[in-house]
Amino acid sequence: MSSESLDSLKKAAAFRAVEFIRDGMVVGLGTGTTAKHMIIALGDKVRSGMKLRGVPTSTETAALATQAGIPLIDSENRWEIDVAIDGADQVDPDFNLIKGGGGALLKEKIVAASAKQFIVMVDYTKQASVLGGSFPLPIEVIPFGWGGTARKIEALTGSRVVLRERNGVPLKTENCHFIVDVHIDRLDQPGELETALNLIPGVVETGLFVGRTHVLIIGTPQGVRTLHVPRK
Ligand code: A5P
Repeated sequence: MSSESLDSLKKAAAFRAVEFIRDGMVVGLGTGTTAKHMIIALGDKVRSGMKLRGVPTSTETAALATQAGIPLIDSENRWEIDVAIDGADQVDPDFNLIKGGGGALLKEKIVAASAKQFIVMVDYTKQASVLGGSFPLPIEVIPFGWGGTARKIEALTGSRVVLRERNGVPLKTENCHFIVDVHIDRLDQPGELETALNLIPGVVETGLFVGRTHVLIIGTPQGVRTLHVPRK
C-alpha cells in the first residue's frame, strides 16, 4: 500500500478518535503523523465552538495545536486529563504498544498515564502478533554513562542496542536525554520486560506501553474498527 493510502487510513482513524471528545474536556495530544490528523480535526471542533484544552506531548505537537487554535494547558501545573489520544508504532493482540519512533515517548507516557482514558489510533500495518521483530524498542536514557546503561540493557534482553543518531551525532530528546533502540526479535512478556528495564539505573523510560490502552482504533482498507479494551 502506498504511503498516501496509509496516511488516509491514519486520517480516518484520527477522525474516529476525535468523536470521543466532549465539550469542556482536557485532551492529551500525542505526537506523530497520525496525531497530526487528530489535532487538525480537534482544531475544527474548536472553531465550531467546542471548548477544549490540550496537553501536548512534544514541542512539535504544541506548535501544531497552537496553529489549529487549540488552547494549551501549562505543563508545569497540576492537570486532570480526560482523554489522551496518540498513535503507536506497533500494537499486539493484548493492546500493548511500542511507541517512541518519533522520540517523544517520555512525555507521551506521562500524558497517557495521567489520562482517564487512553485512545490509540493506528493503521492496520501496525498490528503485530507479538511486539518486536520489525520494530526496535526505543528506550530513553540519561546521556551520562549511556554506554554502561546500554550494556545492561543488552545483558537483560540478549539483543543488540543501537544509539539513535541524527546527522552523525547522538539524537537529544526534548528532555535532553538519548534514545537507544533495542532490536528484539520477540517481546513475549512485555510487562515483565518494562518493569525490569525501568530498574536499570540510567533508564528514564521505555517505549513499552503495557496495559494502558482503553480504546484501539484501527484504519483498515475495509473501514475503521473501534475496539474497546476489556478492563481486568
Ligand atoms: C512518537 O514518539 C511516537 O510514539 C508516535 O506516536 C508513533 O511513532 C506513531 O507515529 P505515526 O503516527 O507517525 O506513525
